[in-house]
Amino acid sequence: MYSKKNINLYLQSNYKDYLQTPSFNQIKKKNLNEVVREFDKEEWKNLYKKVKNNNLKSIKQVDHEYNNLNKQNIYFFNKNFYKNKNSYILNKYIEVYKKTLTNYLNKKNSYNLVELGSGYGSKIINLAVSLNKDYKINYYSGELSLNGRNISNYISKKNNLKLKTFKFNFLDKSSYKFIPQNSVIFTSYSMHYMHRIKNSLFNNLKKTKPILIINFEPLFEIHDKRSVHGNLCKNYIIKNGYCINHYSLMKKLSNEKKIKIIEFEKNIFGSNPLLPLSKIIWKFI
Ligand SMILES: C[S@@+](CC[C@H](N)C(=O)[O-])C[C@H]1O[C@@H](n2cnc3c(N)ncnc32)[C@H](O)[C@@H]1O
Repeated sequence: MYSKKNINLYLQSNYKDYLQTPSFNQIKKKNLNEVVREFDKEEWKNLYKKVKNNNLKSIKQVDHEYNNLNKQNIYFFNKNFYKNKNSYILNKYIEVYKKTLTNYLNKKNSYNLVELGSGYGSKIINLAVSLNKDYKINYYSGELSLNGRNISNYISKKNNLKLKTFKFNFLDKSSYKFIPQNSVIFTSYSMHYMHRIKNSLFNNLKKTKPILIINFEPLFEIHDKRSVHGNLCKNYIIKNGYCINHYSLMKKLSNEKKIKIIEFEKNIFGSNPLLPLSKIIWKFI
């Protein structure tokens, strides 16, 4: 843990590339093909090969293969920076997600829990493993990348989990029909790949009649440019071409009484100190 003065010194010396607002030609906006290349053709493709070749059985083994769980890293939590093993950081995510979700789940009822943009399934499968014995939940993961879905299917089969995967693209209207109606839906670090989210995404989502939606996502607009950390986070998002309108669009929809924001907590936690996630829990009105 750092004092405020030391935090600023630490940030200024470690993240020099993001101290200045990037010029237009430094911005790396990602189109859908680039997202597919990054995840399907690179990250999840290599990982799927390793999962099969090494016959990995648990989601923790996959997490370890992807992100050496014994390695130490700096993370952001509650306005400060700490160092710990990746295993601790991953567990912290699952703890935050589980605590949030279980506030809204009743052990007597059955639910469909859907993750959109689920990657190789790290969050939803770790949650399934942890919630399995206490809650009646059918799990669904919607993901753009086939290799990501293949890893999720492989691990859920090995562990007899009730997880179904489906091809999902936030930008494709026809994807939304695979989301079961009356579900609890969550996203985790997947919506920021859309530089500007459009109203149509909300219109498409509304048709699936979700009970509740939880976004664990980094939000550009809420960072305070006057603080060293806020300024770095904003520049980091701009430079990477990540989403710049998620929060303002939600506020607009809330003011128009199209959605109700039930809970909002900003900049809770981040394994990347410049990309902390916020939590917005909401529903359609
Ligand atoms: C950083 S990973 C996060 C994975 C997972 N949600 C997690 O928190 O571990 C981002 C994922 O979002 C997916 N993604 C990006 N854009 C998407 C889109 N338009 N539709 C669906 N998935 C998308 C990528 O394929 C990738 O698997």
